[in-house]
Amino acid sequence: MNILSVEHLTRVYGTGSTAVKALDDVSFEVEAGEFIAIIGSSGSGKSTLMHLMGGVDRPTSGTVKLQGQDIFARSDEQLAVFRRREVGLIYQFYNLIPVLNVVENITLPVLMDGRAVNEQRLSGLVRALGLQGREHYLPNQLSGGQQQRVAIGRALMNEPAIVLADEPTGNLDSKNSAEIMSMLRAANRQFKQTHIIITHDENIALMADRVIAIEDGRIVRDERRN
Ligand SMILES: Nc1ncnc2c1ncn2[C@@H]1O[C@H](COP(=O)(O)OP(=O)(O)OP(=O)(O)O)[C@@H](O)[C@H]1O
Ligand SMILES: [Mg+2]
Repeated sequence: MNILSVEHLTRVYGTGSTAVKALDDVSFEVEAGEFIAIIGSSGSGKSTLMHLMGGVDRPTSGTVKLQGQDIFARSDEQLAVFRRREVGLIYQFYNLIPVLNVVENITLPVLMDGRAVNEQRLSGLVRALGLQGREHYLPNQLSGGQQQRVAIGRALMNEPAIVLADEPTGNLDSKNSAEIMSMLRAANRQFKQTHIIITHDENIALMADRVIAIEDGRIVRDERRN
């Protein structure tokens, strides 16, 4: 079943002589439950693509359809709701709120949505992420690996259909990287979630079902491995 369609996506930053075409007519389809690695050199357009798929930014032209719906047909407010409910975003530098503790950071998108926290899901996530006993710690009292696990908890709390991660292990040592990746892989298998992970790490690309390579804003390779 198709979950995501990226259709002729182009993103130009700036105008006139300083314009940069960061994405140039990119199209691909994603099946539900796929675990995809996106690779490419620095400046090739990976983060730009992720921001568009996550509804963080709008394209210059082209569309992104999630479950058949054009996400950019929404107003900015509707897009904010979409980001909280339907996608889980994970960044290299965690993006946690420094004054909120572990539990508050994980539940923030749910609370911002005016919904009740599913306590069972929360405690299950805290346990799966190895954060028991740290529930009331602030981000600066946690290691990098722990902070990234909080960010993953926040991304998974809403049970999003699709998880988008931009270099989720870019800031971690190899042991923590392997742990974070196996957690994402487990969530992908357990909840049949679709994961799209931007990475520079060969080992991560090797564990993906499919690798999409981007250069100069275009897809240069798209391979499924079985
Ligand atoms: N807000 C912006 N304004 C102007 N140019 C931008 C902006 N964001 C990105 N770019 C340019 O678009 C191109 C693609 O950037 P992008 O961040 O998508 O690359 P990337 O593949 O994620 O690189 P990296 O691996 O270093 O994170 C680059 O040339 C970059 O300079
Ligand atoms: Mg990037």
